[in-house]
Amino acid sequence: MKNLGILLSGRGSNFEAIADNVASGTLDAHIAVVISNRADAAGIESARRRGLNALVIPSKGKVREEHDREVVAALRERQVDLICLAGYMRLLSPWFVQQFPNRILNIHPALLPAFPGLEAQKQAFDYGVKVSGCTVHFVDENLDQGAILVQKVVPVLDTDDDHTLAARILEQEHIAYSEAIRMVLEEKYAISGRKVVKKQESSCST
Ligand code: GRF
Repeated sequence: MKNLGILLSGRGSNFEAIADNVASGTLDAHIAVVISNRADAAGIESARRRGLNALVIPSKGKVREEHDREVVAALRERQVDLICLAGYMRLLSPWFVQQFPNRILNIHPALLPAFPGLEAQKQAFDYGVKVSGCTVHFVDENLDQGAILVQKVVPVLDTDDDHTLAARILEQEHIAYSEAIRMVLEEKYAISGRKVVKKQESSCST
């Protein structure tokens, strides 16, 4: 079974959705470690309650790569196959990214390449878009720019404010992340340039 490493900094609802799918068997993986760079992250408390291996590796006051080296050492120690950034509010250093080529995923609460960066739901809402959504993508050395695995579209309603929109996007995030993880773990994709293409099931004629 493949080992997941989850990195988070806050609420942890995406982590919880992944953990629920692992617990129910809809996601065939093992959560080997959950790491937060903040001791007060609700997500790390939730990981502890679930009896998972939960680590706090504080980032405050550390040079980025020094912190990244500690995180990578912890991930390697648990033989993590796939790293999922789930509300991890730190940019990864190029060195970190190079340690795990096409083995780091992130979820972003907008339809990339629109509205990268912080408060994406509010950016989209304020811009006046009629649809937004979420994106699960591979992490490369540039912020919110890696190849896209899964996107879900969420219509913006006339009655929405940025909070109600964010809440409906979050529901889709919880579905999208496990879908993308499954695709990667089952190796049901091929990368061609920027495009991630789902592999067709091979038909057996014998
Ligand atoms: C989510 O909206 C995710 O898309 C973004 O950060 C937020 C994390 O939420 N990257 P949670 O901690 O998973 O609840």
